[in-house]
Amino acid sequence: MSICVSCPPKLNRFLAVLGRRADGFHELELVTTVLEGLPELTDTLTAESASELSLTLGGPTSEGLLADASNLVLKAWHLLEEAAGLPLPVTLHLEKRIPHGAGLGGGSSDAAGALRLGNQLFGLGLSDDALLRKAGRLGSDVPLFLLGGTSLGLGRGERVFPLRPIPLEPILLVHPGLYVGTPSVYRSLQSVGYPFPEALASQPAGAPPPWRNDLTGAALWVCPLLAEVRDALRDTGGDPLLCGSGSCWAGRFATPAERDEAAATLRGSHPEWRLWAV
Ligand code: C5P
Repeated sequence: MSICVSCPPKLNRFLAVLGRRADGFHELELVTTVLEGLPELTDTLTAESASELSLTLGGPTSEGLLADASNLVLKAWHLLEEAAGLPLPVTLHLEKRIPHGAGLGGGSSDAAGALRLGNQLFGLGLSDDALLRKAGRLGSDVPLFLLGGTSLGLGRGERVFPLRPIPLEPILLVHPGLYVGTPSVYRSLQSVGYPFPEALASQPAGAPPPWRNDLTGAALWVCPLLAEVRDALRDTGGDPLLCGSGSCWAGRFATPAERDEAAATLRGSHPEWRLWAV
């Protein structure tokens, strides 16, 4: 038997850094939307019955990734085996389309996909809460992918609460092909200075949270080339927002037509950048 799960990317439309914690992580307040319906930017994880566990990688963005014990899919699988108390032999294949080090949560989404897939394939009967706890052990961003939709994230981002859907404006995602390491961006918050801590003010019912990412200054410090994408999005009439710790930017536009015009302009000026309309 073979089953397959989709592992989509995410967009943090609000990311506030509220301070540094004793454990070295940062206290965050996040509003995140899991971006469904973008097949060119969605990983897929397939499992087939087998006599032993193995993982293979493929797809346009798999270069440089390892299918060893460091891979979050295998880490997730080992947590399931620990819960089941027995080996869960399977042939896993991960088809990567989400770029690595782009702030779109690719690895975290794959890990969440593995938890769902293993729970289903082996009928483990783990509750949503049990899966969320395992997800939080794998990484701060993994639980939000289990929840799906739009969520509020607190703590280091792993305490997630569902929110009513927040309609997304016409958005253009721009990936400049750069890799930005998340730990180095968080470390650099100390060099650039913390943003003024400001909790998410209550929003009038239905109003979207601000378009804000407190990691932007630190990411630009780590990778100054990111400014080129921000400026190009501004020049085409977009309102740029760094995705997570970078390197992707999300430009929001007033209308789909303006977004599509900007995409055409950027394709001409920067053919090496990858673009997706959301
Ligand atoms: O939780 P995750 O493994 O995805 O985090 C990757 C790195 O990002 C951590 O090792 C830490 O350096 C940084 N981080 C942080 N505060 C958070 C989330 C991540 O400092 N809330």
